[in-house]
Amino acid sequence: MFNKRVKIRELLAQEPTGQEVTVMGWVRSFRNNQFIALNDGSTNNNIQVVAELGKFDDTLLKRITLSASFKVKGTIVPSLGKGQKMDLNAATIEVLGDSDAEKYPIQLRNRPTLEYLREVAHFRFRTNTFGSIFRIRHSLAFAIHKFFNDKGFVYLHTPIITASDAEGAGEMFRVTTLPFDEEKNKTPRNEDGTIDFKEDFFGRPTNLTVSGQLEGELGATALGDIYTFGPTFRAENSNTTRHLAEFWMIEPEMAFYDLEDNMNLAEEFIKYIIQYAITNNRDDLEFLAQRLAEEEKQLPQDKRSDMGLIEKLEFVLNNNFERITYTEAIDILRESNHNKKKKFQYPITGWGMDLQSEHERYLVEKHFKKPVILSNYPREIKAFYMRQNEDGKTVAAMDILAPGIGEIVGGSQREERLEKLEARMKEMHIPADELWWYLDTRKFGSVPHAGFGLGFERMVQFVTGMTNIRDVIAFPRTPKSAEF
Ligand code: 4AD
Ligand code: MG
Repeated sequence: MFNKRVKIRELLAQEPTGQEVTVMGWVRSFRNNQFIALNDGSTNNNIQVVAELGKFDDTLLKRITLSASFKVKGTIVPSLGKGQKMDLNAATIEVLGDSDAEKYPIQLRNRPTLEYLREVAHFRFRTNTFGSIFRIRHSLAFAIHKFFNDKGFVYLHTPIITASDAEGAGEMFRVTTLPFDEEKNKTPRNEDGTIDFKEDFFGRPTNLTVSGQLEGELGATALGDIYTFGPTFRAENSNTTRHLAEFWMIEPEMAFYDLEDNMNLAEEFIKYIIQYAITNNRDDLEFLAQRLAEEEKQLPQDKRSDMGLIEKLEFVLNNNFERITYTEAIDILRESNHNKKKKFQYPITGWGMDLQSEHERYLVEKHFKKPVILSNYPREIKAFYMRQNEDGKTVAAMDILAPGIGEIVGGSQREERLEKLEARMKEMHIPADELWWYLDTRKFGSVPHAGFGLGFERMVQFVTGMTNIRDVIAFPRTPKSAEF
């Protein structure tokens, strides 16, 4: 039976009192033919296994190499060495899997770069950096479920395959079983040469979802409060440090909420999950804070952050998010020295323009120096489902911008008035016949409601301080890249 092992994290929290234990893990280092640093992924801290000289034969000792896996039984005693409080005096050492240290792709001593580690993503979990990131990612996911569960929200599983384009941006991955063998021309065609989707698996064109929101609204207008938490797909060709083709999104949707209720919930939610990580992942956060501080030492003074990672998170917890309208944001940006000195790549042309991430980051990092909630955007740059304001120009939208990241949340109050919604859909060429079920909720007991979407990876980036989104998801999907 394997399951009698104790996890190293649990073990290290105990006092060394001669207890008999079994641990299993992978070798991080082996010194003086005697001291094995063994890691099992439960923490970055290793247990020091002591293989008493003369007790184990040479053929076994030769197999104690970087990343080989072992089962060790023995006794926990106070450590004689510095740097750890306990040793595991080995009674038996059993090889589970050998590892050819010369060929092992991650030589820890050479300080592999993050770029290199992406190429060996199948092993990067075995480094301290990625151990910390993925334990924190897990904690944040758990905290998200706990937050909503404690508030009585229902976790709704919305479909991954859909026939609608919720965001209307047309950046979708097609899902099909039709043959695409052009040469043999097996693709079924209509008389006019277009593809005949009636022959396709679902009898219509379908795609991977870009958002669970529209289905989420169906749930909220019956269950009250729901949230989704699932994978989301966007075929935008953006090769940036903040975009993935496959990312995870959390989308709460609440009946009887207006825009302000929506902002309040989003702020409380973000603070809750940050607090959860600070409380439950202290060691891992301290490790990543250290890593980030070292990374920043390489940067010129003006590119370094004023605060350490944990300080930054605590600052976010202890301060209200700044709330301003889009119109106010444009004024601030237009009047900024940054703009007057023409330092924006995209100049501030005026009201109505879409904000680029450089503008968002100026607002949070230079001007307010804290998270900002921007609201009431021009209707022309936002999705069809957002509630139209009385001014005829803006919609009840809200985006939350985070330092170092930019947009982390996008949300809005929804248009619950049937005529207004239909009119807007018509203007934007959104096919009403495909969304008949969505429109039905506005015909039968329509209610004010609101919701938002939090990009999970951007949130993990914010908490871990990782600059590239590819380093906070296990196996990133980006343009021209789908390895592993
Ligand atoms: O602003 P977005 O497009 O909003 C929606 O999808 C709405 N349906 C949400 C809602 O109201 N229920 O996306 C929401 C968030 C963004 O703020 C961003 O954090 C993240 O999703 N996001 C991405 N993250 C990684 N890679 C991408 N390509 C992303 N696109 C959006
Ligand atoms: Mg958005």
